[in-house]
Amino acid sequence: MNEGILLTAELESRRFRDALRRFATGVTIITTRTNEGIPIGLTANSFNSVSLTPPLVLWSLNKHSRSLPVFLKSEHYAINVLCADQMNLAARFASPIEDRFEGVDWRSGKASMPIFDESVAWFECASVHQYEGGDHVIFVGEVTDFGYSDRTPLLYAGGAYGVPVTHPEL
Ligand SMILES: Cc1cc2nc3c(=O)[nH]c(=O)nc-3n(C[C@H](O)[C@H](O)[C@H](O)COP(=O)(O)O)c2cc1C
Repeated sequence: MNEGILLTAELESRRFRDALRRFATGVTIITTRTNEGIPIGLTANSFNSVSLTPPLVLWSLNKHSRSLPVFLKSEHYAINVLCADQMNLAARFASPIEDRFEGVDWRSGKASMPIFDESVAWFECASVHQYEGGDHVIFVGEVTDFGYSDRTPLLYAGGAYGVPVTHPEL
């Protein structure tokens, strides 16, 4: 491939990411445990609902992610939907620091998955399907336990964190 084609591919890839960023999402921290029981987790906004009966949700994990080998083997994980006050936690769980759980308040769910009670909602899941999705792996989880609160959710749009504002016409 010559330089011109490479540059075009790079620009197209940036444009593609910029287009995708237009889609506003919430922010989650997805947690599980290693074989030794050590809690691990990462910030993810690829979460979405799939099915009500059975109760299924999905999210996708980059194949370069350090936690991929653990999630591929985990039978369970928890999805913590963050509240506006947890913006620093979102940054912490996306950063390369060694122990992301140090100094963080969490508890074990029924399936021993790490749950942040301050979240807007949390879903403890059995890992039921994994699909190849290009440079990501798509995980589908069956929700085995969940909870929620009336806190304000944290949003992510255009590459920035935000909080919801009611539409001015309402
Ligand atoms: C708002 C936000 C959303 C993110 N969403 C995802 C995602 O859905 N999937 C993913 O693989 N990485 C996502 N990331 C990046 C990971 O959090 C980041 O690469 C993290 O360091 C991965 O951790 P690990 O390498 O320990 O697995 C997101 C980061 C941010 C800040």
